[in-house]
Amino acid sequence: MSKLIKVLKLESGSSQRGANQNRSRALVAGGAGFLGSHLCERLLRDGYDVVALDNFHTGKRYNLNALLRNPRFTCIEHDIVNALPLGLQFDEIYNLACPASPPHYQEDPIHTFKTSVLGSLNLLELARQNNAKIFQASTSEVYGDPFVHPQPESYFGNVNTHGPRSCYDEGKRSAETLFFDYSRTYGLDIRVARIFNTYGRRMQPDDGRVVSNFIVQALRGQDLTVYGSGMQTRSFCYADDLIEGFVRLMNAPSAPAHPVNLGNPGEFTIMELATLVISYTNSRSKIVHRPLPVDDPRQRKPDISFARANLGWEPKISLSQGLAQTVDYFDTLLYGSKLVKGAAAS
Ligand SMILES: NC(=O)c1ccc[n+]([C@@H]2O[C@H](COP(=O)([O-])OP(=O)(O)OC[C@H]3O[C@@H](n4cnc5c(N)ncnc54)[C@H](O)[C@@H]3O)[C@@H](O)[C@H]2O)c1
Repeated sequence: MSKLIKVLKLESGSSQRGANQNRSRALVAGGAGFLGSHLCERLLRDGYDVVALDNFHTGKRYNLNALLRNPRFTCIEHDIVNALPLGLQFDEIYNLACPASPPHYQEDPIHTFKTSVLGSLNLLELARQNNAKIFQASTSEVYGDPFVHPQPESYFGNVNTHGPRSCYDEGKRSAETLFFDYSRTYGLDIRVARIFNTYGRRMQPDDGRVVSNFIVQALRGQDLTVYGSGMQTRSFCYADDLIEGFVRLMNAPSAPAHPVNLGNPGEFTIMELATLVISYTNSRSKIVHRPLPVDDPRQRKPDISFARANLGWEPKISLSQGLAQTVDYFDTLLYGSKLVKGAAAS
């Protein structure tokens, strides 16, 4: 049986639809992580009873501190690779469980792959038993190192099947296959989001993702590590914008027949990002270059036409605004202080 962080009234066979039968119940697998904790917060605000399920590999208990004071929130410590605790009943299931940064997903590549495949299977079976809607956090990594730019959902991608990133990329691709096969076979209501680089409060300082790496290095006065020339591009979406996209996709009256890109189409080179971070942290850090990791994509930019037209969604928060908030977050986390910014958010 899973260790419970907070006692969950779980009696096998009994309904958990809560004291209030009218309230919807949502499960957020990966709920202690960066995006998962923001999603739990949003769902509680929207009136759901929320259960977070997490193995705390990259998720942190302190991400949930405020949420655990809410009587409508519960957290179960559990690895989704293993059979799920009995008696769980939900109306909606969000699968965000998976380490997302290369150093973390490469630590134990076989477990990462199992998380995407066996974990998705376990959650899909739960959705089937509950007749629940289920959401999958897929990724722009399914496009690999793309030959089509920007990337529309119809692009099949260019992914290495056997490189060091493949456990994540191919795991997520397999999970997409499982989701659509469950939909075709059992009529399950599925929603699949392909998420492009997202950043914001509650990223881990040691996470290994470019935005958190740069901010933490700049705040510590260390050189910013740019892999390769830094002319490779990425698109950066602020977490609040993305969560709005999740909720709109989950609540759309009908399920899209394909995965949906969610990301910010603004495209920046890594050098541009490094320069912005140095300016926002007022740092004296320099930029140093290191060799490009294997299979690092040269460019990434979402085509979000489908989300714009069908969900009425597009990001609202500029990179400057989002970076200013994220710098504040890391500054408080690392030093408990507020910086005097080198530039104001636009
Ligand atoms: N943040 C991004 O830029 C981004 C981009 C594309 C896709 N995604 C996807 O969004 C989801 C959330 O990403 P994030 O950025 O919040 O990462 P994160 O690492 O902060 O969150 C992942 C959470 O899942 C938990 N987890 C991992 N393996 C698990 C398992 N086997 N069982 C139970 N819990 C497990 C972790 O402990 C963590 O709390 C991931 O699935 C990721 O692949 C994120």
